[in-house]
Amino acid sequence: MKILLTGGAGYIGSHTAIELLKQGNEIVIIDDFSNSSSKALDAIKKITGKDFKFYEMDYKDREKLEKVFEENKIDAVINFAGFKAVGESVKKPLNYYINNVSGALVLLDTMKKYNCKKFVFSSSATVYGNPEKVPLTEECRVGGTSNPYGRTKLMIEYILKDIYTSDDSWDICILRYFNPVGNHESGLIGEEPRGIPNNLMPYIVRVASGKLEQLSIFGNDYNTHDGTGVRDYIHVVDLAKGHVKAIEKLEKEGKGLYIYNLGTGIGYSVLDIVNAFEKSTGQKINYKITERRPGDIAECYADSKKAKEELNWIAEKNLEDMCRDSWTYIKNQKQE
Ligand code: UFG
Repeated sequence: MKILLTGGAGYIGSHTAIELLKQGNEIVIIDDFSNSSSKALDAIKKITGKDFKFYEMDYKDREKLEKVFEENKIDAVINFAGFKAVGESVKKPLNYYINNVSGALVLLDTMKKYNCKKFVFSSSATVYGNPEKVPLTEECRVGGTSNPYGRTKLMIEYILKDIYTSDDSWDICILRYFNPVGNHESGLIGEEPRGIPNNLMPYIVRVASGKLEQLSIFGNDYNTHDGTGVRDYIHVVDLAKGHVKAIEKLEKEGKGLYIYNLGTGIGYSVLDIVNAFEKSTGQKINYKITERRPGDIAECYADSKKAKEELNWIAEKNLEDMCRDSWTYIKNQKQE
């Protein structure tokens, strides 16, 4: 299969590129480096020993996108080119709607023009809003998303459903990610959020490296086992492998619109993560308990049975792997 990865130099895109190449697929990457760098492309080549075509471009640029489809016989597309910072989306909603929603529309319309109808979409557990129950199954109610970022994910899910209803020759797989953490074990490739990170693990590793002074734990009065928020953290390499399975399903079976949760099915609290990080890396994390962060929910974790049964996929890495591999990359950066 020849697979186009939009945003393929980003955190999840680059890890998926590695797994796709390892399985013998051909890939084409487009990225405008708005939240990534060319270092990731070098790392993909170094880790896999394989080469691929790359276009530096905005995926919303229809003319350039058409050229990519003209020059390559693309069998399937995985769309990683979304903006993903929740807080930023509240401040700049138009940027999010334009990049995530308009971008997806340009991409899908171009795919249609070139009769490329296999599409994997990076969605998020955020579409469940305030979970009606945990663990969350794919049938749980969606909606009530508390920010523009989350709403772009949900809107694109609806758009994909409408496209499939109108033309069932599309093969679509929507992957709802829980909380991706960790990096490739080589330490060559990793997550590099711009500015001060919003997410827990990127923040923790920067406290460990001395770049940030102290972690604020947002609330310890939730109805959870230790009062801090509970999430389903998933190693990015496991997540990447989920995409390979999704592509395989669309290639072999196709004919459908599928939705899968990609999570481990285990919920860990903020304090569980801090403790596991300290234990597996030997680094002390200085923290204080502060107010709850507006919009946060108490707990969110997946029922991952459907992905196991239908994609033959399960998350294999544990919390220790996630903490260690999150730290290795940052440690390497420090030494550079
Ligand atoms: N947290 C802290 N301190 C921090 C950062 C986070 O205590 O500095 C806590 C949060 O309150 C929450 C947990 O750590 O309990 C995880 O927070 P993250 O910001 O890492 O992740 P979220 O679960 O809030 O959101 C993430 C992604 C979203 C995605 C969502 C899906 O950022 O893009 O998971 O459930 F939509």
